[in-house]
Amino acid sequence: MSILLNKNYKHIDSMCTLEKINFVYSFTKSSFKNHRVIVEIGTFFGAITQALRLSIENDKVKIITCDFFRWDDDKQKKYPNKGYKYGDDFSKEVINNLSHLSNVEIYKTDFTNLKINEKIDLMFVDAPKRNKYVIDFINIFSKFWIANHTKILFEDYNQFFSYELPATLHPINHHFKFYSDKSGIVVGEVKSNEFLNHELKKMNIREWSKNEIIKNWNEIINTGDNKKYLEKDISIFMHLFDNGFIEEAKKYAKEKKINFEKYSIKQKFVKRYIDTKKQKKHKKFINLIKKNKILRKINSKIKFFLKI
Ligand SMILES: C[S@@+](CC[C@H](N)C(=O)[O-])C[C@H]1O[C@@H](n2cnc3c(N)ncnc32)[C@H](O)[C@@H]1O
Repeated sequence: MSILLNKNYKHIDSMCTLEKINFVYSFTKSSFKNHRVIVEIGTFFGAITQALRLSIENDKVKIITCDFFRWDDDKQKKYPNKGYKYGDDFSKEVINNLSHLSNVEIYKTDFTNLKINEKIDLMFVDAPKRNKYVIDFINIFSKFWIANHTKILFEDYNQFFSYELPATLHPINHHFKFYSDKSGIVVGEVKSNEFLNHELKKMNIREWSKNEIIKNWNEIINTGDNKKYLEKDISIFMHLFDNGFIEEAKKYAKEKKINFEKYSIKQKFVKRYIDTKKQKKHKKFINLIKKNKILRKINSKIKFFLKI
């Protein structure tokens, strides 16, 4: 089902491929009959917002979408000819892009400040990928999900460099049914949203030990269709490295014969994991955090002892 055939379709620039836009369009069209509320995080120019809106003929459905709408390096790289400068607000263009559609509420905000007070039928998530934001995302929105009904569409879930999204969701994986579309979008069907405290606590992937990282990644890779899209060994390497187990990460890479050349086209990857100067800085930073944590613990013990 192609969105291009919809009579109300208009071209909107997008960071998503047409394949992804079409998947969102046809998935929403075929899988939902009684929608009321759809929430999108990361509007950008509004291409997915349009796909969500056009897929539903029912005029009562409401689409809530949010973004900072602030021009940055990433946007400039992808759209160098738009004429925006770093920090510019581009929300006017988005409001105009979506002006042919009814019941679309556009909010210029960080998703952590989005005010939701009704149950959500469907979400499209194209922003939170780092550990902290994925935790925020779950804490904020999961209470509005409906068990055995709400569906979450994740963009970039399988992107090699951002391993944090699948890892953070691992402790609550069993509350979802996950599968991937060939376009790369991952669907998470909510089976239950009553997460236990210890599961939520485990979502802090920075607290995972070396053994937990390896054990959990052996499970993450078997979740949904992850095996087809994610690479376990490089994910374990990055995760060990980012948790401060730098020597173990190097040893693991050697053992598994990780071919770093394959990943060296990714500048961000090289900067973070291969550039030795940066590595030294990272090591210092991790040691400082560890020292600070110990200092904080000692401080609070002294305060407790002195009853301050
Ligand atoms: C990859 S783009 C979205 C692309 C969009 N789906 C499309 O069709 O082109 C991700 C967007 O998320 C926004 N974003 C990033 N972090 C956010 C946050 N914490 N809250 C709201 N929006 C955020 C960015 O400003 C960016 O426009």
